[in-house]
Amino acid sequence: MAYFALVPAAGSGARMGGGMPKQYLPLAGRPLIFHALAALAAMVAIDKVFVVLAPDDTEWQRHDWSELGARLEVLRCGGDTRAASVTQGLRAMRRDVAPEDWVLVHDAARACLTVDHVAKLISEAGVDPVGGILAMPLADTLKQASESGDGVARIATTVPRDRLWQAQTPQMFRHGMLLDALEFAPAVTDEASAIEALGLKPRLVAADVTNFKVTYPIDLQLAEVIFASRAATAAANLQEVS
Ligand code: CTP
Ligand code: MG
Repeated sequence: MAYFALVPAAGSGARMGGGMPKQYLPLAGRPLIFHALAALAAMVAIDKVFVVLAPDDTEWQRHDWSELGARLEVLRCGGDTRAASVTQGLRAMRRDVAPEDWVLVHDAARACLTVDHVAKLISEAGVDPVGGILAMPLADTLKQASESGDGVARIATTVPRDRLWQAQTPQMFRHGMLLDALEFAPAVTDEASAIEALGLKPRLVAADVTNFKVTYPIDLQLAEVIFASRAATAAANLQEVS
């Protein structure tokens, strides 16, 4: 049984603005998507990293991806929604992937993913009969807003946060089961929801806040800070060794 990664990157980044799809905005000297692809491609356990682009993407070919190695494969089959992009990607992968193989689906926009995050998911969800996802127990108190007539947000109710987790990616399931699940429940916002619709209970694997999704301009600044801090730590470690 093998592991594969599938990275949906066919979105337009409407909430980011920025004049181009956010996966190509510069982050730490690279296109944003480079970072997640690099973390996945660095895993020896992962046979191949598939990236799903919009059929009319013109930005990908402007960059040099050779550093990521030969295990990267581009699929130009993105759809109108994230779920459609993932489903189309899973169909295109059938040439290389068996139904029992694991697929790690990861948002291109979660740029700060590390090999440690991926290794933890593989070791904990890989022993689960269903599979699982990276996630984080919710720390904040949750408020649900009322429907406001006057355009002002007001609290309608407080949602108890016991046992609530924030879903992240990668989300790791067997290829065959995941494709069946998405064909059964195509209107989902993550893979786990489709698996849940089959009555199954994916495992929650605790990650951390650095694996956030770059959505708004402020998130891009935060990601820059994380990469700068990692680079400084790596440089300090190197100095200690030498
Ligand atoms: N995605 C995709 N196909 C779509 C929509 C989204 O492959 N039709 C991908 C995005 O490229 C991203 C991931 O799914 O890597 C998570 O989606 P999101 O963060 O919502 O990105 P966008 O849809 O691009 O952003 P926005 O919702 O602000 O437009
Ligand atoms: Mg979106």
